[in-house]
Amino acid sequence: MPETSFPELPLFDLRLQPQDLEAVAETLRSGWLTMGPKTAAFEEAFAAHLGARHAITVSSCTAALHLAYLAAGVGPGDEVIVPSYTFAATAAAVVYCGGTPVFAEIISRERPSLDPDDVERRITPRTKAVCVVHFAGYAADADRLKTLCDERGIALIEDVAHAPSATLHGRKLGTWGLAGAFSFFSNKVFSVGEGGLLCTDSDEVAATVRSHRSHTMTSGTWDRHSGRTDTYDVTGLGYNYRLDEPRSALLLSRMGRLESEIERRRELTLRYRGLLKELDGVIVPFEDADVPGSSCYVLPIMLEQDGRQAEISSRLREQGIQTSIFYPSIHRFTAYRERFPGVSLPITELASRTELTLPFYPHMSHEDQDRVVASLAEALAS
Ligand SMILES: Cc1ncc(COP(=O)(O)O)c(C=O)c1O
Repeated sequence: MPETSFPELPLFDLRLQPQDLEAVAETLRSGWLTMGPKTAAFEEAFAAHLGARHAITVSSCTAALHLAYLAAGVGPGDEVIVPSYTFAATAAAVVYCGGTPVFAEIISRERPSLDPDDVERRITPRTKAVCVVHFAGYAADADRLKTLCDERGIALIEDVAHAPSATLHGRKLGTWGLAGAFSFFSNKVFSVGEGGLLCTDSDEVAATVRSHRSHTMTSGTWDRHSGRTDTYDVTGLGYNYRLDEPRSALLLSRMGRLESEIERRRELTLRYRGLLKELDGVIVPFEDADVPGSSCYVLPIMLEQDGRQAEISSRLREQGIQTSIFYPSIHRFTAYRERFPGVSLPITELASRTELTLPFYPHMSHEDQDRVVASLAEALAS
């Protein structure tokens, strides 16, 4: 087995504060661990933060996407238009519903967001929904996609895994369509290990999601513990997609710092962008002007030259610097090639072959940023 070696500069680094640990410890001491009052309190706070009628926690963003597609009525024979330049969950959740993901292009390597023109071209009578991903925390064209979908009676779902607190025209991402799906996975902006949330303004969608996250039971364990009822019925085929109290306590505790941590991410992103602009051979996606509305989840770059991704990544690794690829194209993965053959998306494929994600976290020092960019310059010149 190869020896384990951790990078000096990792992609992500999470620092919790003493009050976060105390909030979790208090919940553990309380003896009530499954979904209960802390979860309800977090949902209320996050709904207010988003300006959404409902915020419903679930066990992951993947679960939120699954329930969003189900609530949009996606079933066998239906199509959902999704980017391929995203994490596999965006498309996998369509398949869970028996639907077919129809992959659409990104605009360009400079703006690797879902292309509304290509979405429009791919709409058929079987299109039930479109899912837009706000890649790296930067707003995609949710406004244009909303108009496109509304005019045709198609549901717009937002995969907001990268973009808590990000905005487009002052409106929070996640609130533009029928539902928004957030992730609290360990490497995300607002992370607690595992967890997710669906927001919606639709009372009907909210009722479906609340019911399906807990087996479509008509009452929960907390309802019975607190004496509201002694029994329950099961009204459909639901799931166990519940979040638990320790994670909700951690979310509540971290929420007070969410905006300031994102602000720090923005400052560091602009600084990184300034340094990277000096390098030949590198495209830095998105404009400086996009940064203030973004949650700046990761720092993606595209190598102008095709064919150097693996070599540059391993040169940086030798310098103790971790990089990653956000993202390999979904339609090129074995499972998707076999199931949905013949997909060709040249811009997406080029982005996947040339992208590198650099180390980035809110407490990253300027020296460490300088070190990453100097090592990248050296690798590019070699
Ligand atoms: C764009 C995108 N969508 C969905 C997911 C799935 O999130 P989770 O791990 O919370 O299920 C991720 C997380 O990696 C993601 O990056």
